[in-house]
Amino acid sequence: MTLQLGDSAPNFEQKSTIGTVNFYDYLGESWGVLFSHPKDFTPVCTTELGTTAKLKDEFEKRNVKVLALSVDDVQSHEKWVKDINRTQQTQVNFPIIADADRKVSSLYGMIHPKADNTLTVRSVFIIDPSKKIRLYLTYPAATGRNFEEILRVIDGLQLTDSNAVATPANWQQGDEVVILPSIQDPKELETKFPQGFEVVTPYLRYTKLSA
Ligand code: BEZ
Repeated sequence: MTLQLGDSAPNFEQKSTIGTVNFYDYLGESWGVLFSHPKDFTPVCTTELGTTAKLKDEFEKRNVKVLALSVDDVQSHEKWVKDINRTQQTQVNFPIIADADRKVSSLYGMIHPKADNTLTVRSVFIIDPSKKIRLYLTYPAATGRNFEEILRVIDGLQLTDSNAVATPANWQQGDEVVILPSIQDPKELETKFPQGFEVVTPYLRYTKLSA
């Protein structure tokens, strides 16, 4: 079964670098980022985990819990974490799932046999506090992900969840947003956007949200 946006993220229990993790218990009321790595002791993965560790404060600010996954065992992860900490000058501050039996990778469709029969691709799932999957992306093994982009998407999701707006191309925190095209009633527009808005076409209207 392929997971889709809006589906409930499947719960699981699996070994990790902090002991057995129950995914839902780990997330609690927070947002979650679950991301897979092809293999321990590989260069791209090492930089990705180091980069994520350095973004600890950024994830915390957004109420996000991070959970990494690789298909090696806990012992291997523990040795690898020492390397990551040393080579990336950081401290890995989130658990790494030891998915040696591919239980979680299979549940989340992280193994793409035409790319590799046994190793996981670089998947990212962003999960909201109601445990719904809000973003899913997949990168090939040889391409490292952009973790600033993951933070940007979380910012966009959190903003559009609480305002009747969407974020245009290349949007960054603080930029103008667009008003949802479904809102056309002048009274509703006035109530929701008292700060005003620029009409380019009836469906393309820019507004600024206060910080
Ligand atoms: C890496 O993390 O560097 C990597 C892993 C698998 C294939 C290619 C690169």
